[in-house]
Amino acid sequence: MILQLRDISKTYRTRTPQGNVEALTSVDLEIQEGEVVSFVGPSGCGKSTLLNMVAGLLRPTTGHIVFDGEPMTEPSRRIGFMFQQPVLLPWRSVRKNVLLPSEVFGSKSDEMNQRAEEVLQLVGLGDFLGALPQHLSGGMQQRVALARVLVYEPRMLLMDEPFGALDEFTRETMNLELLRLTKPTGITVLFVTHNILEAVFLADRVVVMSPRPGRVAGIVDVPFGEERAIEIMRNPGFTDLVFRVRSLLGDTPGDDSMTSDLDSDRESVRW
Ligand SMILES: Nc1ncnc2c1ncn2[C@@H]1O[C@H](COP(=O)(O)OP(=O)(O)O)[C@@H](O)[C@H]1O
Ligand SMILES: [Mg+2]
Repeated sequence: MILQLRDISKTYRTRTPQGNVEALTSVDLEIQEGEVVSFVGPSGCGKSTLLNMVAGLLRPTTGHIVFDGEPMTEPSRRIGFMFQQPVLLPWRSVRKNVLLPSEVFGSKSDEMNQRAEEVLQLVGLGDFLGALPQHLSGGMQQRVALARVLVYEPRMLLMDEPFGALDEFTRETMNLELLRLTKPTGITVLFVTHNILEAVFLADRVVVMSPRPGRVAGIVDVPFGEERAIEIMRNPGFTDLVFRVRSLLGDTPGDDSMTSDLDSDRESVRW
């Protein structure tokens, strides 16, 4: 087991008229090394809050987080984080964006240079080392962000709707790429999405969360093994799992939250 969440809750204290916001409550979860676990749940149920706590960026109000046998108290370089936006510096080349964290941490530069190039090759950007982010598509920019975290060979990768702003086709390509890049390394991945198909396609387990205050409404095992191609979506077993996730989410036909619109900003749970 690489990660253990024990009775986690989070209440934000605010001075707004709404007062305190209970974002999460009673979350218990154990994650095994090498697992890909996706998290789905309605907007505002605390998915980002949960990921930020696992990253050590935010303290739980109650409960404990144990990563690799140690209490999580501060951000660790063994944990990589990817957001919906790639957060690249526009004036730095692809290579220099990937090297930025190592400059900040003062890692040895020759070695890192070499490694950055290797990883950029791996994510398919070998011909774009000197390009500026503005000349890359959204998918390519997220590849840069992925390369930037993989350079460190993290034990665990936290991804908060990383492909949510991409079009459907690019998203599928990125999903396949993600599995191709991470599965052989045994890296553990926690992946937040509001796309149910993506959640099932990527994961060994799907954690379904309830509306705020978020708790674990159910966990769906995805027994498809490591070799995944888009075709598994046609598998009746795949469809069954998607329906299991949907019923745990409590969606009812006609509910706004299951529309298939492409506007990711609405953060509805998508079919
Ligand atoms: N810094 C904050 N202060 C107050 N409330 C917050 C803060 N961050 C998030 N929240 C609230 O906590 C709840 C969970 O937020 P979040 O974790 O972003 O949910 P999700 O990622 O599932 O959409 C929401 O109601 C949100 O408004
Ligand atoms: Mg979020």
